[in-house]
Amino acid sequence: MNHNELIAEKLAQVLPDLSQTDLLNLLEKPKNAEMGDLAFPAFTLAKIQRKAPQAIAAEIAETIDQTGLEKVVAVGPYVNFFLDKKLISSQVLKEVIQDGSAYGQQDLGHGRNVAIDMSSPNIAKPFSIGHLRSTVIGDALSNIFQKIGYQTVRINHLGDWGKQFGMLIVAYKKWGDEEAVRQHPIDELLKLYVRINAEAEHQPELDQEAREWFRRLEQGDPEATQLWQWFRDESLNEFNRLYQSLGVDFDSYHGEAFYNDKMDEVVELLDQKGLLQESQGALVVNLEKYGIEHPALIKKSDGATLYITRDLAAALYRKRQYDFAKALYVVGQEQSAHFKQLKAVLADMGYDWSQDLEHVSFGLVTKNGKKLSTRKGNVILLEPTISEAISRALTQIDAKNPDLPHKEEVAQAVGVGAIKFYDLKTDRNNGYDFDLEAMVSFEGETGPYVQYAHARIQSILRKANFKPDSTTAYALDDSESWEIIKRIQDFPRIIKRAADQFEPSIIAKFAISLAQAFNKYYAHTRILDDSSERESRLALSYATAVVLKEALALLGVQAPNEM
Ligand code: ARG
Repeated sequence: MNHNELIAEKLAQVLPDLSQTDLLNLLEKPKNAEMGDLAFPAFTLAKIQRKAPQAIAAEIAETIDQTGLEKVVAVGPYVNFFLDKKLISSQVLKEVIQDGSAYGQQDLGHGRNVAIDMSSPNIAKPFSIGHLRSTVIGDALSNIFQKIGYQTVRINHLGDWGKQFGMLIVAYKKWGDEEAVRQHPIDELLKLYVRINAEAEHQPELDQEAREWFRRLEQGDPEATQLWQWFRDESLNEFNRLYQSLGVDFDSYHGEAFYNDKMDEVVELLDQKGLLQESQGALVVNLEKYGIEHPALIKKSDGATLYITRDLAAALYRKRQYDFAKALYVVGQEQSAHFKQLKAVLADMGYDWSQDLEHVSFGLVTKNGKKLSTRKGNVILLEPTISEAISRALTQIDAKNPDLPHKEEVAQAVGVGAIKFYDLKTDRNNGYDFDLEAMVSFEGETGPYVQYAHARIQSILRKANFKPDSTTAYALDDSESWEIIKRIQDFPRIIKRAADQFEPSIIAKFAISLAQAFNKYYAHTRILDDSSERESRLALSYATAVVLKEALALLGVQAPNEM
C-alpha cells in the first residue's frame, strides 16, 4: 500500500460521508515539505456537513488513527500528515537490502509475451539516427516489461525487401565492384542506389529493369537471390558491429523478406473476408469507416506486394508464433499513418487483438537545430560519433581520476551510456538536438551525472567496508534522507508507469532526481563521520546505489563501480 492509500484508509474510518476513492482523489501533496507529506483539504466536507472547514480539519486531526504517522496537524482548513520517517525508512531500506537488484520487480505480466519491433534498419542503406532511437527505446522497453513480469521478443524487422533491391541489383550488375562492396558495403551500396535513382530519372527503362529484377527476386530466381543474400549479409555485418558497441541484441532478425512466402495467405484472407477492392488494377482495402481517408494498398498492378502487406503478414505470424499480449512497434512518428492503416485492416479482418498493437512513436533528432539530411551533408555517422563520445568520456575520466584501472572499459560504458541516456530522458514524442558535448557532460541531467553519483556511493561504501544486513533496523528521520527514501519507495510504481505509457523517459527522469537527491544529502551530511546514524546513512547510500544501478540497467546503461 502506498502512503496515499494508507492515509485515505485512515480518513475513511473517521469520515463515513466520503468513499475511500473520493478521499484518495482529494489528497494533495503540499508545496512545501515542511507542511508535511500529504494534505487533506476540508472544503468538500464543509459543504456536505455544513460546518466550517477549519472546525472539520481540527476534528479530523484529533480523532484519526495515528499509527505509522509521525504527527497529524490541522492548519486552517487543511489536515497535514507527516509520515513516520523512521518507520518508513527502516522498512524501505530493509526491502532494498533483501531484494537487491530484484527490487521493483513485479508480476503484472504473468509471463505473457510482448513482441517488440525495434531498430529495423534498411539493408544497403545507412543506419540512421531514427534507427538508433528505435534501438535504444526498444531495448529499454524490453527491459522494463521484463521487470514487470512479461517475456519479451526483440524483433529486428529488417528492411530487406522491396523494389529498391531490384534497383540495387541492376546498379550492381552495371557498375558494381565486388571488392569495394566487401570493403565498405553500406557506402558502396548506397552509392549504387543513389546513382541508379538519378539515372532512372532520364532513363525510365532502368526503372522497368529494376521492377523486373525485383519480380525475379520475389519468385526465387537464383541469381537475384544470391545477390540479395550477399547485400543482406554484408549490411548486417556492419549493423552488428554497431549493435555490439551499443550492447543491444535481438531474438529475431526476421525482416520483410521473411514474409515473402507468407503474403499469399494475407491476400487470400482479405479476399475471403470480402475486403479487397480493385482500384486501377491494384488491390486495396478501403478504410473510410475507420476515419482513414487513404485505402491500404495491398498489391500493386504488377503483382508486387508492399510494406503494409508484409506488415500484415508479420502481425499474423507474430500473433501465431508468440501469442503476444502486446505488440509494440518502435518506429518514428512519420509512420503513424502506416500503423493506423495496419491496425484498421487487422480490425476489419475481425482480429480483436489488433487493439494490442501499439505504435510507440518518437520524434525527430536535429543537429545544430537543423533537420538531418544526407543530401545537405547534415548527417550523424554513428560509428565515428560513438567513438568520439568514448574518447570525450576518457578525457574527463583522465582529468578526474587519472589512476583509474580499466579506464577504456569505463570510458566505453560512459560514452555509450551518455548517448543512450540523453535519448531516453527525452519524452519520446519530442525530438532533441544531437549535442555530443551536452550528452557526455558530467554535469546536468545526463547519463554520466547519474553514473558518477553511483560510482561515488560505491567509493564511500568501499571506504567504510560496509556490509548491508537485512536484519539490522536502519532508520533515519532527517529531511534530506527522507527525500531519498520517498523516491526509492516510489521506484516500483515508476517502473509500472513507464511500461503503461511505453515511456522510458520516466525511468531516466527518476534516476536523475534520485541522483540529485543523493548529492544533496551528500553535501549536507558527513556520511562517514562517527555517529549513531552512521550505519543507517551507509545503508541509505547502499540502497540508493542499488536503485540507481537498476534504473540505469533498465535503460540499457551500465553503472561502473569506479569512474
Ligand atoms: N525499415 C523501416 C524504416 O527504416 C522500419 C520498419 C519498422 N517496422 C515495421 N514493422 N514496419 O523505415
